[in-house]
Amino acid sequence: METADPLDELLTCRLDVGRHQVEPCSIVIFGASGDLTARKLIPALYHLHASKQLPDPVRIIGFARRPKPNDAWREELKSGVETFSRTKRVDPKVWAGFAANLVYCQGEFGDPDAYARLAKLIAGFGHEPLRRNLLFYLATAPAQFAEVAGHLSSARLLRRDEPGAGWQRLVVEKPFGTDLASAQQLNSELTRFAHEKQIYRIDHYLGKETVQNILMFRFSNAIFERLWNREAVDHVQLTVSERLGVGTRGAFYEGAGALRDMVQNHLLQVMALVAMEPPVSLEAEAVRDEKVKLLKSIRRWDPSQVPAAVVRGQYLEGEVDGQPRVAYRQESRVSPGSNMETFVAAKFLVDNWRWSGVPFYLRTGKNLPLSASEVRVQFRPTPNVLFAAQCGPKLDANAITLRLPPNEGITLRFNGKIPGTSMQIRPVRMHFSYDAEFGAYTPEAYERLLLEAIEGDATLFIRRDEVEVAWSIVDPIRSAWANQPLGASEFYAAGTWGPQAVDGLLSARGHAWRNPQPTA
Ligand code: BG6
Repeated sequence: METADPLDELLTCRLDVGRHQVEPCSIVIFGASGDLTARKLIPALYHLHASKQLPDPVRIIGFARRPKPNDAWREELKSGVETFSRTKRVDPKVWAGFAANLVYCQGEFGDPDAYARLAKLIAGFGHEPLRRNLLFYLATAPAQFAEVAGHLSSARLLRRDEPGAGWQRLVVEKPFGTDLASAQQLNSELTRFAHEKQIYRIDHYLGKETVQNILMFRFSNAIFERLWNREAVDHVQLTVSERLGVGTRGAFYEGAGALRDMVQNHLLQVMALVAMEPPVSLEAEAVRDEKVKLLKSIRRWDPSQVPAAVVRGQYLEGEVDGQPRVAYRQESRVSPGSNMETFVAAKFLVDNWRWSGVPFYLRTGKNLPLSASEVRVQFRPTPNVLFAAQCGPKLDANAITLRLPPNEGITLRFNGKIPGTSMQIRPVRMHFSYDAEFGAYTPEAYERLLLEAIEGDATLFIRRDEVEVAWSIVDPIRSAWANQPLGASEFYAAGTWGPQAVDGLLSARGHAWRNPQPTA
């Protein structure tokens, strides 16, 4: 393996010096018996503790309905870390140190007495910042966000605009509303109890290392940024494909579907980072201003234009990796006549100076052949002389692919002469792999996001206007589908790349999908 040039170390440049402060605080998790807490939040907090990144002192309080002694909760969480965390093995000594900070508080979300108990518990913490710096993580159903925030406010645990009262923040999970109207309502309810600056809306894609790298890659490398516009780019393809079906999440998925579950948030967020203008600084508001501007410039499809611009699909039975898969309609807690989409492919146009006329194709689906997420920027072909004249469409245009997890990396594809006496050209690749360059370790998205919320940096969280503008993009698509049962051509066999119509979306402009390739 090539050894690093010592200069690389010298040129490593730290951008967040002086930006972050970790103050002692108490973290209260509502929905402490849920899946998210066991699979993501506690493993993330455990790793932050193990790497000494959590504040000291800190308390982590689990608030949930079932009565449970502290020890039982701790044991439950330990086995969660052993099963779900990225390292699996729990170091007993590190765990003991971490578990000493875990406290359980039994209560119903709608019961004021439970919040009085919580307030008393917190008031009993000896160290002052533990009593006033409070991070409330709402790992609950969105219908309960406002209720919990209201009770926290009445119990004087959550204070809006009160200088000198420490800090209190609310972290909320998606789905944030089911359409623009419900998101606006939720936003107004929450902002009755907390200032917008206190609300941290999670999109876990923003916590992924490679998603964060999109901005670094674009704005710290002059050679690419110069080509990042309509002059050089032919079109962009963004794929998030999943090998799994909906599994045990049928009931949730019946109220969501791929458009709400993936496009409104994760895919549009990635697209915003790929296409936005450089922000004036790396501060949260500056970055989010640019994302909002980009989302606002995405052309809204009128419901009558949707059939030509968006394809939906639902999986039938099939095979993925040689394993049989049932049809979506046969999944547990799914209606046998369900019209919910498990696949979406959409063409979006960005009406701004940089991207006018460049299509962005987004697609995502469940039970596809491969789990991959990537952004492929397809450049324009060379002029039709020399090689292009002879090779025609066989002369591949250049492309750069940003591969998000799994198998993170960046690949540049260009043409090269095949060595030998004959004159032959074919595409070759230059590949940068995160694993090969930096080793296999990449922290889980939730580690980064929890730390940022504790530190009070909102850059990686979704602002109110951002969530609302994203709904305004997908709402007309959903209304075009409302009351329209899926047609026969809108189904796809599990293990394929979606319904056939998906090719037509691109071929109309002479484009073709490039499917992500398995990597070793
Ligand atoms: C979640 C969706 O937000 O993201 C799931 O609700 C989806 O349906 C998941 O499977 C995908 O996340 P990741 O990190 O595995 O790509």
